[in-house]
Formats: sequence, structure tokens, C-alpha cells
Amino acid sequence: MLTLYRAHLQTLVLFFLFHLSKPVCVEVPSDTEAVLGDFMRLTCISCMPREEVKAKTSVDWYFTPKSENNSTNDKLHIFRFENEKPSVVDEHFSNRLVWNGSHDMQDVSIRIQNVTDSDRGFYQCLIHRTFEFGFFTPTFSTEKNFTLDVKKKASTDAAAIYSQIMMYVLLVFLTFWLLVEMVYCYRKISKSDEQAQDTATNYLAIPSEQKDNPAAPVTE
Ligand SMILES: *[C@@H]1O[C@H](CO)[C@@H](O)[C@H](O)[C@H]1NC(C)=O
Ligand SMILES: *[C@@H]1O[C@H](CO)[C@@H](O)[C@H](O)[C@H]1NC(C)=O
Ligand SMILES: *[C@@H]1O[C@H](CO)[C@@H](O)[C@H](O)[C@H]1NC(C)=O
Ligand SMILES: *[C@@H]1O[C@H](CO)[C@@H](O)[C@H](O)[C@H]1NC(C)=O
Ligand SMILES: *[C@@H]1O[C@H](CO)[C@@H](O)[C@H](O)[C@H]1NC(C)=O
Repeated sequence: MLTLYRAHLQTLVLFFLFHLSKPVCVEVPSDTEAVLGDFMRLTCISCMPREEVKAKTSVDWYFTPKSENNSTNDKLHIFRFENEKPSVVDEHFSNRLVWNGSHDMQDVSIRIQNVTDSDRGFYQCLIHRTFEFGFFTPTFSTEKNFTLDVKKKASTDAAAIYSQIMMYVLLVFLTFWLLVEMVYCYRKISKSDEQAQDTATNYLAIPSEQKDNPAAPVTE
């Protein structure tokens, strides 16, 4: 739950950042927990050192499936994005991979549709940039690694549950306290009214005993 909130917050922050006239890039790491049958965004962001430099970017995604019996699996080339064109290279994901990156190629994320158990494993995102300074065309590569786990259901964070319970307890307590305060005030007012009206009869003994249990219905 908490990771979900965090992911939403990150998405929200990114959304706002990407919608500012001057985009600010933040390299958030990918979430590493997918839910079976759901979609999963494999986040890979590599901020450019200088915006003004026009760079040609290509990205390659690799996947090493996690095996049950310790056999060493091959690294699969699962996705390539070059010249504004995505191509799904390996059969493993068939048509379940979609491009989810940004136009400026700082965010080169992809998305797995309909996550299966076999999507568990080690993911690598390789970014190649070629900068053009006239005849001089230096190339840079960046690499992001992460291991993806697939869960049956979205795991609920213990801390999130705890804070939720605390919130309800606090809510009930505050409501009760407000009620107690109201009854107490009501009694105090009516008591002073009675004192002012009728000084001969003194009811002081009764409210002082009931003051300990002010939530009791007011019968006066
Ligand atoms: C995998 O290897 C580890 C040690 O490298 C071993 O402890 C574990 O039992 C192995 N699992 C299987 C399923 O063979
Ligand atoms: C165990 O590993 C072998 C290759 O070493 C593979 O052929 C086989 O399918 C694997 N079994 C399971 C249950 O993953
Ligand atoms: C990524 O996919 C989500 C869901 O389809 C979409 O809302 C979002 O705009 C996409 N982001 C980018 C940068 O394409
Ligand atoms: C997701 O995949 C499962 C099998 O892996 C299939 O039964 C199901 O229809 C798929 N759902 C969607 C929305 O593609
Ligand atoms: C990513 O994984 C590869 C292969 O395991 C490794 O060679 C490389 O150093 C890793 N890179 C980072 C940035 O962790």
C-alpha cells in the first residue's frame, strides 16, 4: 500500500514536472513489485546533463528470467527503441510490452501488460546517447538494473495498516472527547443557571459525582 502511494506520488511529481514549461528530470528507481494479471511500469529514467544538446538516444531492455531450479538462464533482449520506433525483440512477452517513455527520451520506461508469473527476474535498461558537436560525436551509455517480483495480490504494507488503524482510533477518541466536552459544558451552564435562579436548593452534590461519567445522558 505504502509502495503504491509512493509510486502514485512519484507519478504525480513526474506528471507535474513534465508539464512545466521547463522540464525538470528526476531519476526515480523502478518499482520492483508487480501484481499478477495487472500491468507493470518498468521505470528507467536517465536525465540528460545538458538539455540544449541534441542527443540521439536508443534504449535496449534486457530480461533474465528467474528460474526455480537454479539453472542459469539466458539474458533475453526484450525491447528496443530507436529512431522513435519501438520493437519487441523477444517472444517471451509477445505483445505485452508497450513503450511508456517520454518524447525527450529522458524517461525510457516500458510497460508490461497482463503480468504473468514468468515475468519474475532481472531487468536491465541500457541507454545509449550520441551527442552531436559538429564532427565530434561522443557516445554515452547508462545502465539501470532491478529485480522484479510478481505477487498474487498487491501486498499491504504493515505500516500503512497500522497508520490507518491509528487514524480510526484517533478519530473515535476525538469524537468521544468532543461529546464529553459538550456534555460537561452543557452541565456547567445549566448548573450555573440553576444556581442563579434558585440559591436555596443546592444540587452541587449530584453533578460532582456525575462529572466522572459525563457521557451519561443528561436527564436534568
Ligand atoms: C539453489 O542454490 C542455493 C545455493 O546456491 C541452494 O541453497 C538452494 O537449495 C538451491 N535451490 C534449488 C531449488 O536447487
Ligand atoms: C530446471 O532446469 C532445466 C535446465 O537445467 C530445465 O530444462 C527445466 O525445465 C527446469 N525445471 C523447472 C521446473 O524449472
Ligand atoms: C504511460 O502509460 C500510462 C497508462 O497507459 C499513461 O497514462 C501515461 O501517459 C504513459 N506515460 C508516458 C510517458 O507515455
Ligand atoms: C491475461 O493473461 C491471461 C493468461 O496468462 C489470460 O487468461 C487473460 O485473458 C489475459 N487478460 C488480458 C486482459 O489480456
Ligand atoms: C547491472 O548488471 C550487470 C550484470 O549483472 C552488471 O555488470 C552491471 O555492473 C550492473 N550495473 C549497475 C549499475 O548496477
